[in-house]
Amino acid sequence: MKLLFAASEAHPLIKTGGLGDVAGALPRALLEAGLDVKLVLPNYAGAAERLKGARAIAEFPVHGRAAPARLIEGRMPGSRLPVWLVDAPEFFAREGHPYVAPNGQDWPDNAQRFAWFARAVVELAQDRAGLGWRADLVHANDWQTGLVPALLSLEPDRPATLFTIHNLAYQGLFDAGMLHALDLPPEWWSMHALEFHGRLSFIKGGLVFADWLSTVSPTYAREITTPEFGCGLEGLLAARSDRLSGILNGVDYRVWNPARDPYLPAHYNRKSLEGKAACKAALQKEMGLPRKPDVPLFAHIGRLVEQKGVDLILECLSLFRRNRMQLVVLGSGDPALESALRAARAGFPRRIGIHIGYDEGLAHRIEAGADAFLMPSRFEPCGLNQLYSLRYATPPIVHRTGGLADTVVDADDVHIADRTATGFVFDEPTPAALRTAWRRALKLYRQPRLWRRIQKTGMRQDFSWQRSAGEYIALYRRLLALRSGV
Ligand code: ADP
Ligand code: GLC
Repeated sequence: MKLLFAASEAHPLIKTGGLGDVAGALPRALLEAGLDVKLVLPNYAGAAERLKGARAIAEFPVHGRAAPARLIEGRMPGSRLPVWLVDAPEFFAREGHPYVAPNGQDWPDNAQRFAWFARAVVELAQDRAGLGWRADLVHANDWQTGLVPALLSLEPDRPATLFTIHNLAYQGLFDAGMLHALDLPPEWWSMHALEFHGRLSFIKGGLVFADWLSTVSPTYAREITTPEFGCGLEGLLAARSDRLSGILNGVDYRVWNPARDPYLPAHYNRKSLEGKAACKAALQKEMGLPRKPDVPLFAHIGRLVEQKGVDLILECLSLFRRNRMQLVVLGSGDPALESALRAARAGFPRRIGIHIGYDEGLAHRIEAGADAFLMPSRFEPCGLNQLYSLRYATPPIVHRTGGLADTVVDADDVHIADRTATGFVFDEPTPAALRTAWRRALKLYRQPRLWRRIQKTGMRQDFSWQRSAGEYIALYRRLLALRSGV
């Protein structure tokens, strides 16, 4: 099976969040399972330099740009996975964030950039770059590649298409005039195609035109067919729910493994958690907190946006008055949330440590050094940090939503008794509910035997990509069978 996996980011070439982790790991797991996979990405500044053996292998015309696209091929560092980088310097060779300009606004030409990239993906899938490789299936991800299934639907003879929703809240919405400016078919200006409340929606390209849809957890797959989580697209998703699957993300345990993680000052595993104490001490030092082995250290890592509920954490600071505890937060995003975090630190300088910015190594050291991980997301398609936390013996405290609901087992009496508890789950995304769960964690932390058991049960959970990759392969086979039936 020849699979072209199209995404707008992939770790370790470029990453802004979980999509980068997924696109860096899933194609590799699919390759290891025997598929003929190519990962295709835009050639951002510095990406080609990170590839192994990168070389230009083709030039081919792509509508929307006078000069041809240049195709660079190489292998993902540490793997055999072939990666194709589509090069168009004026679109992608920019320093910094792939979607957002230094002024904090989206790049003004995002529509042109990702429409052009989608057209390039179609040319590659259809073997019009002269490489002698034609895709049987194209797997597109999120709005940046939403036009791929739409454009492929115009081809008389085309591969099967799967579109995965990693986050429905990001839709790629542009002014109405963009349909014409991008030279897309006028008939797509319809609520049954790409029009969405008077705007052009890239994500609808995937949602309407892909042969099949998936999202990254079974619970989120159900949630997005309801008004509460559907972001206005619930009607469309409900209508297509017979072709909407939920497949949980996996963890790349080669990258996230406390027994070997090169970012950590000490290592540990399920048999011996001793190294975790050294990681905690080092983290307290790194974050400017007093080194106190017995004071519980809570942590949060994430994009500072409403979705992640860091404001709920800030509403719980009264807990600091009554309890000995520490908190560290790593994140960047909304300037208002950034300054609220700075203010919180100013209020409790010896108990709260924050790092505003993006720091891969620190994210690993926090997962290892913290005692428990806060993830009060209002919605969470899958979430990866709670999975990393489980493996790092850092029980997650999560809102029962999306992938969080599917991966964390609450430490209530029943689950403590049957030894299946792995964390703390609360039902409403409110400060009061978070506070109650946080208190429950504080209380259990004071019972070391029970706490240890929860840590170890979490570490035993297997969310490896092999399992999820198997589910994707079964789905791909089904899609190919569906297409050959038409
Ligand atoms: P999302 O994709 O919604 O941001 P996920 O939990 O799926 O959420 O994935 C987030 C990924 O991004 C994780 O690998 C996490 O460690 C990483 N991450 C988020 N913010 C930061 C940051 N400020 N520094 C380092 N890594 C971060
Ligand atoms: C999105 C979601 C997150 C998910 C990630 C990878 O960014 O917000 O929940 O884990 O994509 O699928």
